[in-house]
Amino acid sequence: MAVAVKALLASLLLDAALASLLGIDSIIPAVPAVPTVGPEWIVDLAKAPLTGLKAAVSRDFDPLMDLDPVELSRYWGYDAELHHVTTDDGYILGIHRVRNATVASEASGATQPVVVMGHPLLSSSAEYLVLGPGKALAYLLADEGFDVWLLNVRGNTYSLNHTTLSTKEAAFWDFSFHEHGTQDLPALIQYAMQETGQQEVQYVGFSMGTTTMFVMGAERPDVAKHVKLYTGFGPVAEGSHARSAAFRLLLQSIPAQKLAGAPLGVYWFLPSTPELRATGQTLCADSAPLTQPLCLAIFASLGGRNDKQTNTTLLPYILSRTPAGTSFKVLDHYRQGLVPGFHKYDYGTIQNLARYGQLTAPSYNLSNIFVPTRLYYGPNDLLAGPQDVLSTCAQLSNVLSCEAVDDPEWTHFDFVWAKQVPELVYSQAIARMKAAESSA
Ligand SMILES: *[C@@H]1O[C@H](CO)[C@@H](O)[C@H](O)[C@H]1NC(C)=O
Ligand SMILES: *[C@@H]1O[C@H](CO)[C@@H](O)[C@H](O)[C@H]1NC(C)=O
Ligand SMILES: *[C@@H]1O[C@H](CO)[C@@H](O)[C@H](O)[C@H]1NC(C)=O
Ligand SMILES: *[C@@H]1O[C@H](CO)[C@@H](O)[C@H](O)[C@H]1NC(C)=O
Repeated sequence: MAVAVKALLASLLLDAALASLLGIDSIIPAVPAVPTVGPEWIVDLAKAPLTGLKAAVSRDFDPLMDLDPVELSRYWGYDAELHHVTTDDGYILGIHRVRNATVASEASGATQPVVVMGHPLLSSSAEYLVLGPGKALAYLLADEGFDVWLLNVRGNTYSLNHTTLSTKEAAFWDFSFHEHGTQDLPALIQYAMQETGQQEVQYVGFSMGTTTMFVMGAERPDVAKHVKLYTGFGPVAEGSHARSAAFRLLLQSIPAQKLAGAPLGVYWFLPSTPELRATGQTLCADSAPLTQPLCLAIFASLGGRNDKQTNTTLLPYILSRTPAGTSFKVLDHYRQGLVPGFHKYDYGTIQNLARYGQLTAPSYNLSNIFVPTRLYYGPNDLLAGPQDVLSTCAQLSNVLSCEAVDDPEWTHFDFVWAKQVPELVYSQAIARMKAAESSA
């Protein structure tokens, strides 16, 4: 790992704590030494002195952790399907569709409203399922009669295929969240409309799932006009007030890591690997009281800390499918976003001129988003703080509501993992989504 990067990370308290405890260099992954291989530090970590502990705990792993989103949803009794959606630029996305069969048959004949859901950075469709039936947003929406289509953006666990490129080629990884918004989401919305014969859909996004929608809204009004309501949690467009030191440090190390990895063609960041899953499931479980606090510290340093909403038991379930991988360029685009504004990817003056016809990267025009929008933010969200969210809301052209969750400690990840997220956030959001259907 580059010396400069190492020096930077040394200032991170939890990094130091983890490093000394586990006998590794850093919690932030080093540049992989060989192409196409995931972060090797985590392999070493899993093999380290904790091998015994891992073996002891692994017998108790809940088999549900090994199921993919379709298998998991079927296990819970839902109708679930895997669809393959090909984007205009050749990526083959693995899309998960979830419906409640009981509700669907009651609706017999009447079409079910379609909702498309976009997941956060380094994550997947599984994030909307991890809380399980009666709590997870995708299941609650299915129970309320929605036909749920879960996006998996290019580069995550379920969307690693392409019509001509392989993940071993650098060209595969040449995308940022710009392509999530201009290609992936439009492809899914058009596909879902075609499959269901409907002309309108609703959209739900959390974190990067909102960035995806902001990009589509600004750049693809031809598709955005089919979205009748956009519900966003922890929305991220402007990031200049992001208070998370850990996220800033992680992002600032990206250019150095990418530069070092480039000659090897390594642009894949934190893919899901068996070692990574086993490590998360082992070190972050309730049965690992020594290391679990460090797992919690990592999430708290990224998104904020809210002890009374934190369900520690959930951690191994989360970490069995997240992180799910992304490209360095996505992270680099977020790094560029730590300054005021919401800009397209900055390629440097010469390439900017060729691509954009100007020296600097142009802004996304948030005023060009006319989709009816409801945004929810956390007062204690270190990534999508009130200042940035309110600035975004002020620019959008059709904001129906832009409000804080009624808990001063509400953090970023509380929107998907909090004990009370169903009562405090989802119930109201779903009621408003249903109202949008009946008024249509
Ligand atoms: C589906 O909806 C029905 C009726 O609301 C509910 O009783 C059931 O628990 C839901 N879940 C599944 C998996 O069917
Ligand atoms: C994608 O690639 C994986 C692994 O090679 C394969 O199992 C899967 O069937 C492929 N899916 C599509 C849609 O091509
Ligand atoms: C915490 O998560 C576990 C695992 O999903 C779940 O069984 C339990 O009900 C959750 N507890 C609360 C209070 O949400
Ligand atoms: C942004 O979009 C709005 C609404 O479509 C338009 O009036 C305005 O001219 C656009 N601004 C720029 C800089 O393109």
